[in-house]
Amino acid sequence: MTHIAFTLNGAETALHCAPDRPLVTILREDLGLTGTKLACGVGRCGACMVLLDGAAVNACLLMAWQVAGRRVDTIEGVRKDPRFAPMLAALAQANSFQCGYCAAGVTIALAGALGGPEDPDDAALTTALEGNICRCTGYQSILHGAQDARARLRAERST
Ligand code: FES
Ligand code: FES
Repeated sequence: MTHIAFTLNGAETALHCAPDRPLVTILREDLGLTGTKLACGVGRCGACMVLLDGAAVNACLLMAWQVAGRRVDTIEGVRKDPRFAPMLAALAQANSFQCGYCAAGVTIALAGALGGPEDPDDAALTTALEGNICRCTGYQSILHGAQDARARLRAERST
């Protein structure tokens, strides 16, 4: 067991766990943050995505020791972050999701793509979603939501 301290959704967080305990398990089972989903468990579907220092990563592949001293934001944090409110509104208005199982991971992937200083073009948005599997939508509704999110965030930045 080892002591791990990191920033989670803006709050200092510490726990004792095995250094190789996957972050997705820590979030869901130890900390009760079940918005992060566990599906494939091997880095192929994106359901478990979180932001690590602002970049979208698969939490099933991240071990506890790798998040020590880092900043982790989950879907629960992104949903409360006013910076991302226009993105969430755009995804909702576009009816981007159907069953919703991929929604948390996709939203995190887009938060990573749209939360940086650079405005991603359509190709960059598509690339940002390459790690996320959605079995329902065919991705078009997600892409439309992402494009609207980009426009809303751009408009907000220019005011
Ligand atoms: S559960 Fe992590 S990538 Fe699928
Ligand atoms: S909305 Fe069902 S998996 Fe994406």
